[in-house]
Amino acid sequence: MNVLVIGASGHTGKRVVKLLSDSSQHLVRAMIRKASDTEEMEKLGSKPILADLEQDFSFAMNDVNAVIFAAGSGSSTGHDKTIAVDQEGAKKAVDFAKEKGIERFIMLSSIGTENPAMAPEALRPYVIAKQAADQHLAISGLNYTIVRPGGLTNEPGTGMIDISRHFTALENNMISRDDVAQVLVDSLLTKETEHKIFEIVGGSTPIEEALKSI
Ligand SMILES: NC(=O)c1ccc[n+]([C@@H]2O[C@H](COP(=O)([O-])OP(=O)(O)OC[C@H]3O[C@@H](n4cnc5c(N)ncnc54)[C@H](OP(=O)(O)O)[C@@H]3O)[C@@H](O)[C@H]2O)c1
Repeated sequence: MNVLVIGASGHTGKRVVKLLSDSSQHLVRAMIRKASDTEEMEKLGSKPILADLEQDFSFAMNDVNAVIFAAGSGSSTGHDKTIAVDQEGAKKAVDFAKEKGIERFIMLSSIGTENPAMAPEALRPYVIAKQAADQHLAISGLNYTIVRPGGLTNEPGTGMIDISRHFTALENNMISRDDVAQVLVDSLLTKETEHKIFEIVGGSTPIEEALKSI
């Protein structure tokens, strides 16, 4: 597939770009907003495209069959960016993907999005914004997968996860970004993940088996 990674310069996005470019099944286009990231994206084996979620970025989806959305405003910005990037940026990505007839849309969402009222108060605006974006995608008519990981770490991936439509109780909700990136990439070609929303944390089932079980 010809895959556009939105948020390609991020901690998870870079891992997604690398996995896609190492694979013989995909070509990868890396959406970045800083020209200074161009060289690194080229070294990772992708074709960089400069675009910003807060502007018109529909051109980034020309000649693309799939989108992986791994962008986010991060915890150091305010509520305005949560709305502009995590909510409205993601919703625009869905709308542009529809306009361009994109075949597959994989959303990196977050655990906690299922039920924002239960989230810690400081996180609530973020999970409400992510929920709005997820709902927009789920009713878009696109062939979607919504992946909701627990807390992200930079520990090396284990290739093993636990997966559920929605976990009700968890002892440990952390997961390596390596494993999240693998789930995002594997979901592209795993039929069982189409039109699905699921949560993932570090666990004991190989990723391929876990994705086929959902
Ligand atoms: N942190 C957690 O524990 C956690 C848990 C569950 C889910 N998540 C979700 O996972 C996502 C990825 O996490 P991460 O830690 O890998 O993220 P990250 O390193 O903060 O990367 C965020 C990416 O989004 C890009 N971005 C931000 N604003 C943009 C804009 N206006 N236009 C285009 N790109 C923009 C950033 O670009 P620049 O490099 O230019 O800033 C960067 O590439 C988060 O955003 C969140 O939604 C996080």
